[in-house]
Amino acid sequence: MAKVLIIDDDFAIQASLGLLFKQNEFESASAQGPVAAMSMLRETNFDLIILDMNFTMETSGEEGLKLLKEIKSLLPTIPIILITAWGSIELAVQGMKLGALDFITKPWNNEHFLQSVRTTLHLSEQMGKKGTLSRKQLDEIFDFSDLVGRDPAFVKTLETIGRVASSEASVLIFGESGTGKELFAEAIHNNSVRKNQPFVKVNLGGISTSLFESEMFGHIKGAFTDAKSSRIGRFEMAHTGSIFLDELGELDLSSQVKLLRVLQDRSFEVLGSSKTRSVDIRVISATNRNLNNMVAEGEFREDLFYRVNLISVQIPPLRDRPGDIPLLVNHFVEKLRKTYKRPRIQISNPAIEWMKRLSWPGNIRELKNLVERVILVSNKDIIKLEDFTDEYKSGPQKTSKTSIPEVGSMTLDEVEKNMVVKALDHYNNNISKAAKSLGLSRAALYRRMEKFGITL
Ligand SMILES: Nc1ncnc2c1ncn2[C@@H]1O[C@H](COP(=O)(O)OP(=O)(O)OP(=O)(O)O)[C@@H](O)[C@H]1O
Ligand SMILES: [Mg+2]
Repeated sequence: MAKVLIIDDDFAIQASLGLLFKQNEFESASAQGPVAAMSMLRETNFDLIILDMNFTMETSGEEGLKLLKEIKSLLPTIPIILITAWGSIELAVQGMKLGALDFITKPWNNEHFLQSVRTTLHLSEQMGKKGTLSRKQLDEIFDFSDLVGRDPAFVKTLETIGRVASSEASVLIFGESGTGKELFAEAIHNNSVRKNQPFVKVNLGGISTSLFESEMFGHIKGAFTDAKSSRIGRFEMAHTGSIFLDELGELDLSSQVKLLRVLQDRSFEVLGSSKTRSVDIRVISATNRNLNNMVAEGEFREDLFYRVNLISVQIPPLRDRPGDIPLLVNHFVEKLRKTYKRPRIQISNPAIEWMKRLSWPGNIRELKNLVERVILVSNKDIIKLEDFTDEYKSGPQKTSKTSIPEVGSMTLDEVEKNMVVKALDHYNNNISKAAKSLGLSRAALYRRMEKFGITL
């Protein structure tokens, strides 16, 4: 039976946690403050520590951090879960940097608390003295089946998302285009207690300033001229589940303020209605921009940055982990064998070796697309290096020669609209990339989308 030490000066918390542990077959003991805690830790072997950072009247948390350091120097590998109050999130982040494995905010949900306790105990048991987990060990604890990779830096990022999946902490995923940010976000949700609740994706790069509120908060019928019927916003859809804010760095400053308000208060007003709605959501965001620089340049609000960036995860680019290329290629080939009912497809070793030397600016998405294209175009079972080099040279944006429509068949506006739709489609609704390909600024592209009534 695992033995837990609860360090908290609040008797009510000691009692309620003590009861929760007892009901779930954990043994527990409580300590009022640092002195008692340290002497108990010297005398008894505990498996886990629950440490309240805001104990005593003083709320800066200094004392909690000091105690955390003392515990870590006495027992470097003991797993620690922090308890913090809402609003003292910086403290939790500092604590995680000092080696706490997770944190819980007050007031907590017992089910979440227990999941965090179980995951933390399991992780620390697996980590043993080494302090890190192998891919195999991670796969025993979490479901990462869609995420292929064994490179140490990649496995480290998996370990981080596994560790924080069960907590309520907001996670910000950084990574170049095509590195798997969306897959990571899904993995966090699918390994959390919210896994059977909604996972709502929002591409912030695809929402124009004027539509931000109605898209995110919803509107009631008649809220504005075009509001012919009422509409549920994304936050409400995500209630009790997770919301994935993709392309966070594309959000303009006025929408940033509106987003910050919801994230701070967990409540918002539906457009046209004066009633405030509360939501229970877990926030996961992603960006391929350097938000630190954007904060320094005044393009991204610092307060919002801290709000979404409790835990940050950096997905390494593919060129830094060429060792994963054979695994990834194999993974994609296996899927394609099924899709195209060509069970004998194989990629030759020289082709794989060649792929390991490329720089992959489009990362895994580019690799996946290349493999698929070559398999389709070559139509052979054994695919050789030449098949790849031929296809690669012809470039990823290979298009058939398109001619300009006949005079009189289309107006200039129609041509423009079609081109905008085509570019958006090609770049999966990524506004920045579509705008760039059209030689427009993002704002100019938005204006055209509004003009032509194109929504994403
Ligand atoms: N580790 C991985 N294992 C297997 N497939 C992966 C992995 N990472 C990414 N992929 C695949 O690569 C493609 C791109 O992934 P994803 O859309 O998650 O990237 P992204 O970082 O969100 O890209 P973007 O910045 O362009 O939005 C998807 O088809 C995804 O399934
Ligand atoms: Mg993405």
